[in-house]
Amino acid sequence: MKKRVFSGIQPTGDLHIGNYLGAIQHWVKIQHEYDCIYCVVDLHAITIPQDPRILRAKTREVAGLLIASGIDPQIASVFIQSHVHEHSELTWILNCFIPMGWMRRMTQFKEKSQKQKEEVSTALFDYPALMAADILLYNTDEVPVGEDQKQHVELARDVAQRFNSVYGDTFTVPKAVIAKTGARIMALDDPTQKMSKSEEQPGRVINLLDSPDDIRNKIMRATTDSLREIRFDEDRPGINNLLVIYEQFTRQGREEIEGRFEGKGYVDLKRELAEVVVESLSPVQSRYRELTADPHHIDRLLAEGADKVRPIAEKTLARVRDMVGIG
Ligand code: TYM
Repeated sequence: MKKRVFSGIQPTGDLHIGNYLGAIQHWVKIQHEYDCIYCVVDLHAITIPQDPRILRAKTREVAGLLIASGIDPQIASVFIQSHVHEHSELTWILNCFIPMGWMRRMTQFKEKSQKQKEEVSTALFDYPALMAADILLYNTDEVPVGEDQKQHVELARDVAQRFNSVYGDTFTVPKAVIAKTGARIMALDDPTQKMSKSEEQPGRVINLLDSPDDIRNKIMRATTDSLREIRFDEDRPGINNLLVIYEQFTRQGREEIEGRFEGKGYVDLKRELAEVVVESLSPVQSRYRELTADPHHIDRLLAEGADKVRPIAEKTLARVRDMVGIG
């Protein structure tokens, strides 16, 4: 029996190289070894205001990009969260077992809610419960994510243990799997901040569908420092981030990379990195264009994905309902 892997991605904004290096590339690699389920989480997306037409289009775009990045929907399952209603129902039940104190500790809510103040939705606060439901519905052993999702996966783990201790073994207790490097790619214009979707500052992120010229311009303008030496050093976040991106895309060792740029300047590193990123994303972009040439193709794949995973979710939820005494 293969171990079960589950992970999710939000269809808000454009997918960027942080998503790719911190999560998607690992999802591709492990799909033969594990029983993998990858979910485009549109219910999470609506925790903040969304334009319905854009959301629908982005949901297909994200699914298309996962497949174009190398996830084979015949091997792994790829589906849209709202296509499997069990996610919402299990969230409600889990809500009844999650103390408010656990939720109040979630740092991502604190960050995200600051922007919206009083307008912030109840669902944004409850976001980690929906995420726990995603994971627990599928008897997940491992959850490969970037560093920013660690706390949420730990909450899912705590909820599973709490529920199991009240009702007996029901949920598999999941664990987060976070790569040692590349799990926190930083913004190009401000390497003290995580790379994240931002419409106001287009120089911050490299999107998977960016044109070669955009990629080159953004990398050439990336913030560095006034020193000269090119080496991995977390105390120099700008140059360190560029080197980590280089390392991730080329898979070369750190010594080899430092040797390659010895005596060279930041402009040389940026030029070479830009070409590496352009070349690495080019096959993803052309596969994406092929895949989306027929607009119904992705929809069919997603419907099949939901059909494959729904029975697992139904079985877990039926057991939970029975344990709790509802229905
Ligand atoms: P999301 O959509 O923000 O990000 C998807 C994945 O990309 C990773 N990531 C990064 N990795 C490295 N550097 C970065 N700058 C960077 N930015 C994003 C994220 O860590 C994530 O792995 N709540 C989740 C989606 C979700 C989920 C789940 C994940 C919903 N249900 C169940 C796992 C299991 C989120 O918003 O990811």
